[in-house]
Amino acid sequence: MHYFEYKGNELHCEGVPIKKIAEKVGTPFYLYSYKTLVRHFNVFNQAFEGIPHLVCYSMKANSNLALIRLFVNLGGGVDVVSGGELYRAVQAGADPQKIVFSGVGKKEDEIEYALKAGILMFNVESSMELQKINEVAGRINKKAPISIRVNPDIDAKTHPYITTGMKQNKFGIDILRAPMAYRLASELPNLKIVGIDCHLGSQLVEVDPFVEALRKLKQLINDLRQQGMEVHYLDLGGGLGITYSDEEPPHPYEYASNILEEIRSFDCTLILEPGRVIVGNAGILVSKVLYIKENEEKRFVIVDAAMNDLVRPSYYGSFHQILPVQEGGREEIVADVVGPVCESADFLAKGRKIPRLNPGELIAIMSAGAYGFSMSTNYNSRPRVAEILVRDEEIYVIRKREEYEDLIRGETIPDFLTHS
Ligand code: LLP
Repeated sequence: MHYFEYKGNELHCEGVPIKKIAEKVGTPFYLYSYKTLVRHFNVFNQAFEGIPHLVCYSMKANSNLALIRLFVNLGGGVDVVSGGELYRAVQAGADPQKIVFSGVGKKEDEIEYALKAGILMFNVESSMELQKINEVAGRINKKAPISIRVNPDIDAKTHPYITTGMKQNKFGIDILRAPMAYRLASELPNLKIVGIDCHLGSQLVEVDPFVEALRKLKQLINDLRQQGMEVHYLDLGGGLGITYSDEEPPHPYEYASNILEEIRSFDCTLILEPGRVIVGNAGILVSKVLYIKENEEKRFVIVDAAMNDLVRPSYYGSFHQILPVQEGGREEIVADVVGPVCESADFLAKGRKIPRLNPGELIAIMSAGAYGFSMSTNYNSRPRVAEILVRDEEIYVIRKREEYEDLIRGETIPDFLTHS
């Protein structure tokens, strides 16, 4: 069952024609389907039934308050990577005891904020960070719960920009050095070892790397336990991929059953940090065709969404399917779909077969729910777009479109420049 589908010739989100939303809020906008979000979270969560586990939604994929709250209501925790994300998670109503804090460069104020909020654990990525957390915790009289993010040196076979679990990546502590880091942690008075963590990368379309990582982690946990350290949480990170075009990632049940097989008899609570697999295909970007232009070599469809709204095609060369909101037997053409930003890298699709589109028409850029809005910027002083949530027949504006005033918020012209 899909919640973005044509009814008649009109693309709908659940019970609402997308055209109707565009008439109400203008374009471009991100559009999320409530039922899809719920289904994705529940399927993923239920796949791990049978062992103690916690799904900490990786909010960097999409950090809108409404989405976080939705997952919190379904029992989810949150994976945060900055003070700002922690703030959002708390504002959205997340239980701090279900928040894990990852990232290679946590700052002192962020550590203090997280300690005071009472998060479940810090996923620590270096020995120096262990010492810093120990120092901050001591200063404010707290004991910091930590797990160490281990880099298992496994090739996740994904885009080089989003692979993280190999030696040449900046993430985690090399698995061979991890025992040393744990020993250090056990000696620091204001730290409490509670778990172990790893994250291999994103958009993984095979289960093997996960299984391989688990086997390495299990070995390490056994060694640590023999030394009397308590490793209660096993955080496997996120990374399960989705279908953008013809990828065939494992279904969450297949992913889960492989993991469960490895750790069923292993006494620990499993933590998972899925992002993309929950929100990626639950959201689209809707844009309007502005102009068509052609020369001997190329045909450009110029639309009102751009790389500042969805950077993935420009940044990673990612593929996002593009559908006309109004379907109708038209001939197909090959074109570049581009935005108004002044960069040649500003494209949403290159050399793409699409129906011949007319100015004023709406298009849907699919699979844009993850790393879409959350990576958007104001480049070219373009206000960030609205975010809409649809549930059945209802339309909710969950983030209003920015206005020009928002663009200059916080800026000042020093006096000396205004006195001539
Ligand atoms: N946990 C950690 C520690 C992470 O670094 C990430 C993603 C996740 C969980 C969630 O991974 P997911 O389940 O979404 O694959 N901007 C890129 C993706 C960057 C992923 C960064 N880390 C993209 O648009 O493809």
